Amino acid sequence: MERTLVILKPDCVWRGLIGEIIKRFEGEKFNVIALKMFHLSVEEAEKFYAVHQGKEFYERLTGYMSSSPIVGMVLEGKKAVLRIRELIGATDPKNAIFGTIRNKYAINGLMNVVHASDSLESASKEITFFFKTEEIFHYQRREE
Ligand SMILES: Nc1ncnc2c1ncn2[C@@H]1O[C@H](COP(=O)(O)OP(=O)(O)O)[C@@H](O)[C@H]1O
Ligand SMILES: [Mg+2]
Repeated sequence: MERTLVILKPDCVWRGLIGEIIKRFEGEKFNVIALKMFHLSVEEAEKFYAVHQGKEFYERLTGYMSSSPIVGMVLEGKKAVLRIRELIGATDPKNAIFGTIRNKYAINGLMNVVHASDSLESASKEITFFFKTEEIFHYQRREE
């Protein structure tokens, strides 16, 4: 079992897609084991996206991510890091495979609905960024 961090970005929240996107993840047998709404300050967004500092889209990205509330969650499941990245699709919806979340819902390469950790190492760091240990839970999925 792996854990990964997912953020439902401002465009997901303001278009009323929170439930739709969580439903996709739950439908693929991932458990939501932590869930919280945040409104990041610009400084927090800059810290979270520090790896992108200096890139031409950095200011737009941090301004956008701090523009309205977002939903952070930890998902748990088999090969969660890679599988969730596959489910969300490429960064730019023009390059995202048909049927992926970004292919279906992203507005453009900036407002692309969802963030997901890109490796086990970044998942661990990103989960710690948003959640305390006691805010993360564990349960078994039951079908009945
Ligand atoms: N060329 C770009 N133009 C505008 N925004 C971008 C661009 N590249 C990336 N972004 C934004 O920065 C976020 C982080 O970039 P990156 O880590 O490369 O993509 P991903 O979210 O797929 O891991 C993207 O999800 C997107 O919101
Ligand atoms: Mg990334």
